[in-house]
Amino acid sequence: MKSAPFTFQIDLPGGCPTYFEHHLERTLSAMQGQFLDGAAYDRLIKNGDPLLYEVFEISRPEVAGELIHGVSILRPGKVGEEFFMTKGHFHTVLDTSEIYHCLHGQGMMVMETPEGEWAVEALRPGVVLYVPPRWAHRSVNTGQQNLVTLFAYPGNAGHDYGTIESQGFRKLVVEQDGRLAIVDNPRWLPPAGRA
Ligand code: PA5
Ligand code: NI
Repeated sequence: MKSAPFTFQIDLPGGCPTYFEHHLERTLSAMQGQFLDGAAYDRLIKNGDPLLYEVFEISRPEVAGELIHGVSILRPGKVGEEFFMTKGHFHTVLDTSEIYHCLHGQGMMVMETPEGEWAVEALRPGVVLYVPPRWAHRSVNTGQQNLVTLFAYPGNAGHDYGTIESQGFRKLVVEQDGRLAIVDNPRWLPPAGRA
């Protein structure tokens, strides 16, 4: 890990940075139970468990003064009506934020708070999105090309995946009759119904 100032480049449209320390790949099987259409999910898994996204991370010490940053590359595709998406998470330290800069592709960021407030923001090249403290976030690729985003968040933030795995996001981004739609997730558990 570097301790002096450094730079790197992000080659577009591919999105792979010229410097990174950690490379993570998530295939569809990492998203068991997250897509609504279980039959479509099973078919895709049987046909080879496609790669959904990869993350190139510039790791930093997990302390408040640092910024963990990197590039997320989310592939295009759908599971039934639902577009390919990231797992999504709250930060373990809820009072930590994140910033995204969309570099390539088209998508949405689906967000919500523990109290059930929600927001969906469009991502296209040039858009900068600030995710305030307390807001869970999930990227969704609504386009035909890779969705490439640069992200940065405090080193102490941590990832809480379990809450979303068990309760889902309040809103889903789907294609219905050839149109993009933001619909209620019928399986979402409102805060009052949670254990
Ligand atoms: O920190 C972030 O929010 C991003 O770097 C995500 O980790 C990345 O987009 C992958 O998503 P997830 O961590 O929800 O699998
Ligand atoms: Ni995050």
